[in-house]
Amino acid sequence: MDDPILADQMRYYRERGPRSYDDWFYRRGRYDHGAAINRQWFRELIEVIQAMTEFDVRGNVIEFAGGTGIWTERLVATADSVTSVDCSPDGLEAARIRLGPFASRVRLIEADIFDWTPRERFDCAFFGFWLSHVPATHFARFWQLVATSLNPGGRVFFVDSLRAENSMAKDTGLQDYGDSRQRRRLDDGREFTIYKVYYSPKTLGDSLAAMGWSFDLHATREYFIYGSCKPPAE
Ligand SMILES: C[S@@+](CC[C@H](N)C(=O)[O-])C[C@H]1O[C@@H](n2cnc3c(N)ncnc32)[C@H](O)[C@@H]1O
Repeated sequence: MDDPILADQMRYYRERGPRSYDDWFYRRGRYDHGAAINRQWFRELIEVIQAMTEFDVRGNVIEFAGGTGIWTERLVATADSVTSVDCSPDGLEAARIRLGPFASRVRLIEADIFDWTPRERFDCAFFGFWLSHVPATHFARFWQLVATSLNPGGRVFFVDSLRAENSMAKDTGLQDYGDSRQRRRLDDGREFTIYKVYYSPKTLGDSLAAMGWSFDLHATREYFIYGSCKPPAE
């Protein structure tokens, strides 16, 4: 691990605990921004889920940073198998419990994505709220990993944060250093520095085009960027 912020980022997620992560997604506790904002959040999530349904996840799927399994559960409903790689043992255990009987078709791998090499190829790749944690220094390397994880004709679907406002914890304030680093506070008060890179469809599309990827990217009104991508032909 050559980057101390990436190490802090892994510690942040390992220490955070699955309950706190799910509170963020489901807008509970410190992440409950009130009925109107929460409603808009879930409306937009439905838009993303509809697009993911149209994408039609099939075959064997690699999920990067699958965390507590919120999206794994959705992926495995239509996939033959899902392999989920994440650095947090507690997150993976929460995923195993969430998946229940589906767990038999899901392989949970505890690893640092930046230090992990696939031993097989997959038909689809998925990552939820992960790309924003990949710093610019690791961007090309991560997309190369995605490309080498895929069978010929393989496809990618992803979703991520579009902006910080009304997304982070209410008591965090917006501790954004303006250079893709953010200060995050756990429920117990401990603080960590992590990367959080916000893309628009235009900024992400420009970077993907420069690497020869094809893509179809969208933003919801307030909170999410999502889309599908295909690597350059080998
Ligand atoms: C924002 S969460 C997203 C979790 C899940 N994809 C979701 O949307 O519910 C980011 C995830 O990245 C994982 N993570 C952070 N750094 C990692 C690394 N270097 N390698 C593997 N996983 C990592 C964390 O444990 C956490 O589960």
